[in-house]
Amino acid sequence: MNKNHKEFIENFNEELVIFSPGRINFIGEHTDYNNGFVLPTAIDKKIVFSFERNDTEDQCKVYSISYGKMLDFSLFEIRQSTIEWENYILGVINELLQITDSVKGFNCIIKSELPIGAGISSSAALECGLAFGLNELFGLGLPKIALIELSQRAEHLYVGTKCGIMDQFASVMSKDQKVILLDCKSQTHRLIDANFEPYKILLLNTNVSHNLASSEYNTRREECEEVIKIVSSKYNEIKSLRDITKSVLNEFKNKLSTTLFNRASYVIEENNRVLQASELLEKGDLVRFGELMYQSHRGLQNQYEVSCEELDFLVDFSENNDKIIGSRMMGGGFGGCTINLIHKDDINDYIVRVKKAYKDKFNIDLTSFTTVPSHGTSIQE
Ligand code: GLA
Repeated sequence: MNKNHKEFIENFNEELVIFSPGRINFIGEHTDYNNGFVLPTAIDKKIVFSFERNDTEDQCKVYSISYGKMLDFSLFEIRQSTIEWENYILGVINELLQITDSVKGFNCIIKSELPIGAGISSSAALECGLAFGLNELFGLGLPKIALIELSQRAEHLYVGTKCGIMDQFASVMSKDQKVILLDCKSQTHRLIDANFEPYKILLLNTNVSHNLASSEYNTRREECEEVIKIVSSKYNEIKSLRDITKSVLNEFKNKLSTTLFNRASYVIEENNRVLQASELLEKGDLVRFGELMYQSHRGLQNQYEVSCEELDFLVDFSENNDKIIGSRMMGGGFGGCTINLIHKDDINDYIVRVKKAYKDKFNIDLTSFTTVPSHGTSIQE
């Protein structure tokens, strides 16, 4: 470790520690920015932030243990960086400074257990953990929803991904052993018991992250907006794909390209699946819940076209195993993890088999971990 970084860590006078978790999403992908429904929750893997005030007006140092890099800046001169991870930090600071002048100089050390590009939203964990921590450190008094929204805006403005609200919401609002049914239009949510016995949640990380991910993400969003533009020329009360039914969409079939029609069909169907899935979970009908996860994947693969060969291979592989009742890609797509509901007695055996098959096919090591629905951003007591 560089001598200056070592000194920085040794002299650090920790005042506050924040845990900021990653998230999973059972179903409802690419629905959040269409004002739809999602079913996410936080996981037991997190980013840990240590904070101290440094008694300056404006000097800040943020050290990332994972990158071995220091970000050194003044609150008086916040601008976008050419280095991606720095923009998550600077974007949040920029947003906070629009709302308050109570943020002063601080130091922070960040340590992450979240693999990057795995679709478990290390980005929202980073944004929200920082926002949450500074809110505490300087007694800003901002409610959680303000921290969520400003983190989302930071990602739009500084990182350039026009993400929805799901990741930030799940990272901050989740509760142990619950999943969140979030209505992204009204931003109201309901907690549902995460009762998956005898199944466990297994994440399989393809360890690929095709670089299409962020550009294609924004393209999908634009495609959805294009559909709204066309449909609202007749129905001007329609503001998002959430407001469109299948029969209204069908009226416009000839006016939409096949691509746009498929994108919108997927979103409408996926929203219905989320609502159905949450009822099935409440009733304990996990097998049908899992079937909807498979259907969601096929929609993402064929209609929304955000999957990739590696993810499809894993979902196909699990479909041949009746101990895996549900499997799908998770998050933005083009790589990252699949989420699987697997019988607890079959996990070890399955991991060995799927890892071998994946390695044989792509010559890439698959990584895996099981996880449990966990608490959102919190202060270490
Ligand atoms: C990313 C975004 C979310 C959401 C998902 C897809 O994780 O940050 O807002 O759109 O992709 O469901």
